[in-house]
Amino acid sequence: MVKMDKKIIIANWKMHGTHELVNGFILNMKKVKKYFDKCDVVICPPFTLLYKLQEILHDGIFIGAQDCHFILDFGAYTGDINTKMLKTEKCSHVIIGHSERRNYHNENNEMIAKKGTAVHQEGMIAVICVGESQSDRDKGEAYNTIEKQLKESLPVTANPVNTVIAYEPVWAIGTGVTPSISDITDMHKFIRAKINNIAFEKKYKLIYGGSVKADNAYSILSINDVDGLLIGGASLKAEEFSKIIENSIKNIE
Ligand code: PGA
Repeated sequence: MVKMDKKIIIANWKMHGTHELVNGFILNMKKVKKYFDKCDVVICPPFTLLYKLQEILHDGIFIGAQDCHFILDFGAYTGDINTKMLKTEKCSHVIIGHSERRNYHNENNEMIAKKGTAVHQEGMIAVICVGESQSDRDKGEAYNTIEKQLKESLPVTANPVNTVIAYEPVWAIGTGVTPSISDITDMHKFIRAKINNIAFEKKYKLIYGGSVKADNAYSILSINDVDGLLIGGASLKAEEFSKIIENSIKNIE
């Protein structure tokens, strides 16, 4: 269940990591445990490390997956993983619709919505990513792109308790370039307005991702309407990731 009163910081390890990385994390995360009353921390390793990472659950950290198949049943789908399997590995969150999946695996909004439903059917939280490309932005299409992605990739099963929306401008991912504070503010405000569901008292959690580091995490997380962070490259170093948690959460009310 998404905790409305807390920030959320998610590590996306992508196609990185061996057992040594997990061991380093287990040690470092103990140092920032004191911030876990203000933020939930979720680590999304490759599938191969989910079992090993379960050790970290004792420290109050959550584990998540980076993708899933949309089919609920077991079956002949070589190389795929369904949400039942992820649930068995104690995942509470699943990232879906990341731009790298959209671009390199041709995932479209319809498929992402189906994956979202599969995540919800297993009682997990879907972290649904949206983000415009540089060319969308250059053409003045950034807002239209985001609106379309939201409309089409949020499944009908989505609600603020089982879904987190991640805004990740594609041009900011892994580039060291981030949008200005006012650009993030405006886009999050826009997303908030589009997805607000008046049937729910609480609002969806909106998180930002794209070149978040220890030195910009606090300024981004302090933006109104930014409820958390999705971190790729900087989440691979346990020290840097702990600094992100500390720097951004320490002064948050
Ligand atoms: P980055 O990646 O932090 O390396 O920019 C973010 C993401 O892709 O989720």
